[in-house]
Amino acid sequence: MKERLLGKISRIEATHPICVLMDEHERIEQKLAELRLLVLETDLSGASADTMERLKEVARLLLGAESHHRREEQVLFPRVQGRDELLGALKREHEELATLKRTLVGLVGGDCSASVAVTLSGLRQIAAVLVNTLREHIRKEEEMVYPAAVETLSLRAWRQVANEFEASGYCYFTARSAFLGCVRCMLNCPTRTLLLGDG
Ligand SMILES: [Fe+2]
Repeated sequence: MKERLLGKISRIEATHPICVLMDEHERIEQKLAELRLLVLETDLSGASADTMERLKEVARLLLGAESHHRREEQVLFPRVQGRDELLGALKREHEELATLKRTLVGLVGGDCSASVAVTLSGLRQIAAVLVNTLREHIRKEEEMVYPAAVETLSLRAWRQVANEFEASGYCYFTARSAFLGCVRCMLNCPTRTLLLGDG
């Protein structure tokens, strides 16, 4: 699915907003995999200082993804036609995910106003729900929303999306710029011949 989608993007333009979103998804998914492993490293006696530090970094990145969700909601989703029910469900998931992420930050002692008692069982529970919900959320966006947008939006519309993305701002972990994000995509993607070959 991802390869097919990227193949279509190459026919529109190389520096594409969907490329940026998918690159951010990749960073988020890497941190979810890390979160899953880190939680397994905790045991009933607690978590090591190193594990807690790494958990804080994971929580910080996940919370830092709010700008990604905001760009989707405010810029991309309103341009996707005929998917109102799905888009409504995804927006509700953004809210649920934000709550889960703030809870995670509170649990691992990061900078967050939420005051949550640290319990390892709570941490494990939140991490499991967050990992599953966010992975499934990303799957729905990449398999249903992004292809629908790529199918229907004009080049002019994508340029507006790119401008509005710039105005909205990126996550602190987004590749150095939207352009560099896409370059990385082109260099690493197995379909780079499609990306580079279609002119
Ligand atoms: Fe997303």
